[in-house]
Order: sequence, then C-alpha cells, then structure tokens
Amino acid sequence: MTAAETHPRALRPTDVLKHEHRRIEERLSALSEALEMLGDRGAVPSVLDRVEDLAQRIDLEMAAHHRKEEEGLFPVLAPHLDRELNLDGRIADHEDLKIMSGKFKDAIEECREDQSDTFAAQMLRGYGLYIVHLVLEHLLKEDQILFLVAEHCLSADEEADVFERFRRLDTEAAGAL
Ligand SMILES: [Fe+2]
Ligand SMILES: [Fe+2]
Repeated sequence: MTAAETHPRALRPTDVLKHEHRRIEERLSALSEALEMLGDRGAVPSVLDRVEDLAQRIDLEMAAHHRKEEEGLFPVLAPHLDRELNLDGRIADHEDLKIMSGKFKDAIEECREDQSDTFAAQMLRGYGLYIVHLVLEHLLKEDQILFLVAEHCLSADEEADVFERFRRLDTEAAGAL
C-alpha cells in the first residue's frame, strides 16, 4: 500500500469545481447531440424543446458554478497570482458566456416562430455548437492552468476559507429555491 493510499489526500476546493466541470461537460455533450438533430429541413418542436431544456439546465448550473469561482476561489487566490495569469480574463469569460447564452435563447425563439425556416435552424445549430466549444475551452483553461495554480499556491487555511465560502453560497442557493 502506498503512502497516498494510507493517507488519502483531503478534498480540495478545486476537486469540487472540477467535479462540477465534469457534470457541465456531460450536459454540453447532450446539448451538442440535440443541436446536431436540428436538420436542414427546419426545427422539429420536440428537438427545440430538448435544446431549450438542456440550455436552461446548463445556465443554472453554470451560474452557481461561476459564483463559487468568483466569490469563493478567485478572491482567495488573487493575492497569489502574478500579472501573467490574468484572473480578470476568467471573470470576463463568464460575462461573455452569459451574453452568448442570452443570444442563444433569442435564436431558439426565432426558430419557434417559423418551424420551416431552415436558415434559422442552421444558425441555431451553428451558434449553439460554437458556444459549446467556447465553454469547453473555458473549462479546460481552468482545469489545466488556474486550478493547477490554486492547488500549488493555496495554504490549508486558505483552502478552508474557500470551502467556507462555498458552504455559504450553497446555503444561500438552497434558501433561494
Ligand atoms: Fe469559470
Ligand atoms: Fe469553472
């Protein structure tokens, strides 16, 4: 038995965030499959329903996840980062993704207005797949760079601080339901 097996590493804040990334990726993959079904003959209502439902779930999960990063991890990590890492860029990513999600919803509505509008369906498919790509890229960037830095830099006390922030956000979110 190795030392790591006898003394398993404690759960870290980045483990929680990575776990959420994997769940978001699963939903994105389901969304991609639904988008691919928006054929060249316009949008079938049941496919549009599926696309809209998945997009809503992703929005909700991403909103909660982004709060954990912006109000939980980033403030504690910020003092450790040198200018090269551009933490604000990650928050800007979140804003961009939110704006795109709003436009994506408009594109769904356009498809609903005229089911035989093949151009609208193709645009929705193209725009949707592009957003999926951008979100995946964002998750990869955090997994491979930002979280690595967090795991390297944060002390046990700072990680406890991040966990406490997560706990407050989860309690707040549960209270809002
Ligand atoms: Fe993020
Ligand atoms: Fe993230």
